[in-house]
Amino acid sequence: MKNIILTGDRPTGQLHLGHYVGSLKNRLMMQDDPNNKLYIMVADMQALTDNAKNPEKVSSNILQVALDYLAIGLDPEKITFLIQSQIPELAELTMYYMNLVSVGRLRRNPTVKAEIEQKKFGESIPTGFFVYPISQASDITAFKANLVPVGEDQKPMLEQTQEIVHSFNHTYSEVLVEPKGVFPAKNMGRLPGIDGNGKMSKSLGNGIYLADSAETVAKKVMSMYTDPNHIHVEDPGQVEGNMVFTYLDVFGTDKEKIEELKEHYRRGGLGDVKIKRYLIEVLEAELGPIRTRREEFAKDPAEVMNILQKGSQEAQKVAANTLLEVKKAMGIAYFS
Ligand code: TRP
Repeated sequence: MKNIILTGDRPTGQLHLGHYVGSLKNRLMMQDDPNNKLYIMVADMQALTDNAKNPEKVSSNILQVALDYLAIGLDPEKITFLIQSQIPELAELTMYYMNLVSVGRLRRNPTVKAEIEQKKFGESIPTGFFVYPISQASDITAFKANLVPVGEDQKPMLEQTQEIVHSFNHTYSEVLVEPKGVFPAKNMGRLPGIDGNGKMSKSLGNGIYLADSAETVAKKVMSMYTDPNHIHVEDPGQVEGNMVFTYLDVFGTDKEKIEELKEHYRRGGLGDVKIKRYLIEVLEAELGPIRTRREEFAKDPAEVMNILQKGSQEAQKVAANTLLEVKKAMGIAYFS
């Protein structure tokens, strides 16, 4: 059986190491399985739901996110890349799905709830924002995706999509495919920020970006949160909660050396600067080739946009097909 896999990112900034370990690496593995058909969506409509007054923030990041995709090795020969807003069928599906979801159900979506708090909308929640889980259900079902690789925070979106699929198929007829979420392995789930904060995020300013220069990466590593009680080199240090070791565990390949460093650090006599220099080396091994490829693609932005356009055109055909089936099932395909 062939898997249809759809996932996407909001283009509100460049992608960082948190995205890389949390989901991008997963996609690299998936693209190499000939049983998989992958769609990757730049979710600009969704990004606009809380950036209506600031559309350039969204439009200007489309190219950046696409460059990040290509830089890590996602291959347009194997993957269909699409821009959400260029597929009007998605918005149309959303209109029909909205009738199957109550306002109360949307209010209970924990991710949306948390975002409403975090974004301090108060009483002024944009309606488009409030209903974005329904629009996400359209993204997924339009391509009949059966697998959706996403972060833990997207679990509620998957549940809501599954409910919409059930409701639609039950109310009209079996047209939609129920998708399953694919979540990152426990230890890979969430990369903390360089400040030790639970999550790497743009708004917290604690990220290392795929596009960061070698100097920037080095500077960020040098400012990393370690063990605040490890003042003198001779002091015994703590490894748990120390971001340098957390990152070494995620990115390092020489596990034996890392264990030795941990021992030494715990005993005392190993300075922060030394372990940071090693982490810089480890990160460079991963980020260096990504950066080079990114610079190559960045020389020809028209070609990158061309990849997105071709993918969007291909994706639109698929979405139009599903929309027609949906309308037929509802008995509103009046002219066909
Ligand atoms: N909500 C996702 C995020 O914030 C982005 C997204 C939009 C998405 N549409 C999707 C993810 C469809 C998976 C499937 O990261």
